[in-house]
Amino acid sequence: MRVKEIFESMEYGPAPEASGEALAWIAGFGGRFGCFIDGTFRAPGETFETRNPASGAVLAEVTQATAEDVDAAVAAARAAQGKWQALGGKGRARVLYAIARLCQKNARLMAVLETLDCGKPIREARDADLPLVARHFYYHAGMAQLFEEEMPGREAIGVCGQVIPWNFPLLMLAWKVAPALAAGNTVVLKPAEWTSLSALLFADICRQAGLPKGVLNIVTGDGIVGERVVVHEGVDKVAFTGSTEVGRKIRRATAGQGKALTLELGGKSPFIVFEDADLDSAVEGLVDAIWFNGGQVCCAGSRLLVQEGVAERFLAKVKARMATLRVGDPLDKGIDLGAIVDPVQLARIRALVEASGGAVFQPCDLPEGCYYGPTLITGLESSDRLMQEEIFGPVLVSTTFRTPAEAVQLANDTRYGLAASVWSENINVALDIAPKLVAGVVWINGSNMFDAAAGFGGVRESGFGREGGPEGLRAYTRPAGKRKPLKPVKAMTGEPGAQAGLDRTAKFLIGGKQVRPDGGQVRPVYGRKGLAGQVGIAGRKDIRNAVEAARGAAGWAGTTAHLRAQILYYIAENLEARSAEFAARIEDLTGVKHGAREVEAAVSRLFSYGAWADKFGGDLRQVPMRGMALAVREPVGVIGALCPEEAPLLGLVSLMAPAIAMGNRVVLVTGEAAPLVAGDFCQVLETSDVPGGVVNILSGPHAELAPVLAAHMDVDAVWSFSGGDVSAVIEAESAGSLKRTWVNDGYATDWDAFEGRDVLEQASEVKTVWVPYGA
Ligand code: NAI
Repeated sequence: MRVKEIFESMEYGPAPEASGEALAWIAGFGGRFGCFIDGTFRAPGETFETRNPASGAVLAEVTQATAEDVDAAVAAARAAQGKWQALGGKGRARVLYAIARLCQKNARLMAVLETLDCGKPIREARDADLPLVARHFYYHAGMAQLFEEEMPGREAIGVCGQVIPWNFPLLMLAWKVAPALAAGNTVVLKPAEWTSLSALLFADICRQAGLPKGVLNIVTGDGIVGERVVVHEGVDKVAFTGSTEVGRKIRRATAGQGKALTLELGGKSPFIVFEDADLDSAVEGLVDAIWFNGGQVCCAGSRLLVQEGVAERFLAKVKARMATLRVGDPLDKGIDLGAIVDPVQLARIRALVEASGGAVFQPCDLPEGCYYGPTLITGLESSDRLMQEEIFGPVLVSTTFRTPAEAVQLANDTRYGLAASVWSENINVALDIAPKLVAGVVWINGSNMFDAAAGFGGVRESGFGREGGPEGLRAYTRPAGKRKPLKPVKAMTGEPGAQAGLDRTAKFLIGGKQVRPDGGQVRPVYGRKGLAGQVGIAGRKDIRNAVEAARGAAGWAGTTAHLRAQILYYIAENLEARSAEFAARIEDLTGVKHGAREVEAAVSRLFSYGAWADKFGGDLRQVPMRGMALAVREPVGVIGALCPEEAPLLGLVSLMAPAIAMGNRVVLVTGEAAPLVAGDFCQVLETSDVPGGVVNILSGPHAELAPVLAAHMDVDAVWSFSGGDVSAVIEAESAGSLKRTWVNDGYATDWDAFEGRDVLEQASEVKTVWVPYGA
């Protein structure tokens, strides 16, 4: 093409990035890779091909790791962990810093290898993925340096098993490896089978950085290898990014293993354009939201919601812009959309679009091969399959709304809750909408902004846990030191009929009212001098009623922290006024002598959480761009909690108080030994201005009620400090709606530790809100 023609057509010629260095690196291994275990590359075993999706050419052969490989990797990680942790934060910081430097120095090689292996445009690998990888290691080198100050009382969990997807192979590795190593853990990582090469190059770079042997191990292969890693008994913590379906499988497969788990899963994130938005900016934001990495992004703004008044104009602008996008050779620096990662994924996208039923707009010419052009589908209803299902390709679906309230309703009409993007020039509209969106990340007048200092992660079926920021690092730590267990109390036994004092039948507290069990069943409870009273036995229906009441009390989340504190103080006062009675009751029902101390501790705990209520709201993150990232603490929602047997009053208060302090509503199932204490406590709540439905209390067999709570679709989290063996069933049943779980991990037995940040973290979610700010 001549210069004159270029001027006339504004067409640009090809600007290919050279691939020689990356291909030479592959050739240096003879084109065949073994796993990286204990600081060395093993000889390749049984291998499979990894291809360049843009050309279909075989790039290399990669090993399908065997069970023995996974065993060896976990053993190497275990052997290396103590020494790595003992290096101290400052020692680890040096190594992480060296890794960050080497990622920068090798950025071109790494970016090209990434593009060759997964087909993403080199422009993105070079300008987005690699800078973020380096930034992640720098940030976490800093976190390691300050570890003792930033994470007081915390230590590494141990060996981490990490499984990552193919859409950001190196970046997802960085998100997982950097915090794990900073905290003093060691790692066994399995990259996605389509894109293993950059993880192997990274391992090579870690050797150069002086990372001790065994601290990072890479095992390659398919989902079978992934499963072997996550269920391995030598793995203490599992972190996964990928599809919701596999996340669910991992939740079930690891249930009851006592492993820490974080899941970063799919999304169908709304991109909301109000009629007062700067439409041209919004169009560019949209290009980034849905066509970045060909839409193969978990938080892609794949659902366009545009206000009716500007819909026609906005869609016309979007269509005009789509026609200018260039699809082609990902190594070409002028390309906007590269290849789709694999023909299997291409077929998946095609099949979904062909069955869409909407008006499909596809303006771009495509080269031969594994490509799919930018696509817009209009005229869909919110309930249509493509409005609900993750496509994971360059396909945007759209609908319109009339009012801000309708925008919120449509935005939240999804089983996911990963991200959302809001476009408006009216700051009041944007800041009014942001808190109402059910999503872990909200971008105001922006999209796809990420940083190591800002938490990223979802709610609902987008998973749980955050990556990035202090909350991300914290997920790779646990409380340091050993705990001194308290003794569980045992139920008194007695002769039926030997009633002491008044006949009392403790009722449940549901929706602010004392109610009898739905099935009418009761059982006797004994004290020192015989029958002390009766207590109802809750069943499925009672749990459902309590959850419904809790759902109905959603207004509690919107009350001020000051008001929540006031109510907690009021509960404390009313409990204190009845101290002697409660102390006697506890001693009578459990045979302990420290009833008064337990009541005093419960009063103090209520005061503590009253104090915390307005002091755990979140903070501001220093992100390297024009804007600020607010880390806002939001309530989790409805929390179902099984109370412990160790202390009937303090146990219940220790779960209830942090939950309601943060704006959650609770369904509490009392300990089984002394449920009458909770019965008395219901009266305290009734006189303390707690709105109906915020706290619901019932009693019954934990083994039967735990799975009901865990499987309930309207419960957002389940906590269990039950004396019964119910953790496994809770974790397994929670997989249905991927709700958060927090089950006995040593806390239930140590009441002093059961107060403060750890518990408040469980009672809240971080929502990261990105707001334009500054010059
Ligand atoms: P996937 O979820 O199957 O794979 C992700 C990783 O998990 C890979 O390393 C895979 O080998 C591993 N894996 C598979 N089965 C496993 C198991 N039972 N236990 C442990 N590890 C296992 O994702 P896939 O099949 O590559 O893509 C399917 C769909 O998932 C995509 O179309 C997209 O909708 C979604 N996806 C979402 C991602 C996200 O970031 N949220 C990333 C990749 C895919």
